Amino acid sequence: MKKIVVSTGAGVSAESGMPTYRDAGGLWENYPVMEVASDTGFARNPELIHRFYNNMRKKLTEQIKPNAAHLGLAALESDYDVRIITQNVDNLHERAGSTKVLHLHGELMKVRSVNHPERVYELPCDELTDKGLETSIRTRDQYGDGVRPHIVFFGEAVPNFEQAALLAREADVFVIIGTSLVVYPAAGLLSYVRSGVPVYYIDPKPVAVPSFVNVIAEPATRGVAELARQLRGM
Ligand code: OAD
Repeated sequence: MKKIVVSTGAGVSAESGMPTYRDAGGLWENYPVMEVASDTGFARNPELIHRFYNNMRKKLTEQIKPNAAHLGLAALESDYDVRIITQNVDNLHERAGSTKVLHLHGELMKVRSVNHPERVYELPCDELTDKGLETSIRTRDQYGDGVRPHIVFFGEAVPNFEQAALLAREADVFVIIGTSLVVYPAAGLLSYVRSGVPVYYIDPKPVAVPSFVNVIAEPATRGVAELARQLRGM
């Protein structure tokens, strides 16, 4: 089976109603990014960070569903070995049925111990003092430790990058969807793809990319349908 490696950003979830980060009306327009997504912001105002991610988690669970792009990528699994590398913290690829998803920037539905980062809890979780989807600076795990969102903040390492780079190197087809390609190391994944491997890039406002990249300048839902057509013709 051909291995298709798909690198997704906020744009793949935009049509589900999940805000992107840098587009007009995006998340960072409403919140100072260094307050809600950095290690220094968390040290300064952990209460605000808990609240910010509680709100996003509530919205993700109650209002947001996978769209045709997530579903289309999951459907490709019947013909290909599909690996998703996502910068997104939502769980829409998993909810659409994709079985191999690597999260580069963490996961909204998880928190972890502030003292033991390997203790990760999927919400809702019985082992926490708060049994629902919300956490606060008072939440404790079964060892009495506080928790924080399982999110890679600015200023922190990206622990899954090495695995992502390996996947990119093994790709028979590489696809990029809905990312402004400004946040490293994720933006650099393309440089790990072997030469001669077909590369597709789906984004209604694509940024400049090398000329060998096949650009599909469409929203993700239409773009993934077009990708599936082009793959069938390969
Ligand atoms: P950005 O908000 O930087 O970029 C979103 C991209 O999606 C842009 O290129 C848009 O043109 C595109 N887009 C918008 N609507 C689309 C649609 N319907 N279909 C396809 N594409 C669409 O988001 P990312 O590149 O994902 O990290 O941002 C990277 C990282 O920056 C995020 O993972 C986040 C943030 O800091 C963390 O929180 C750790």
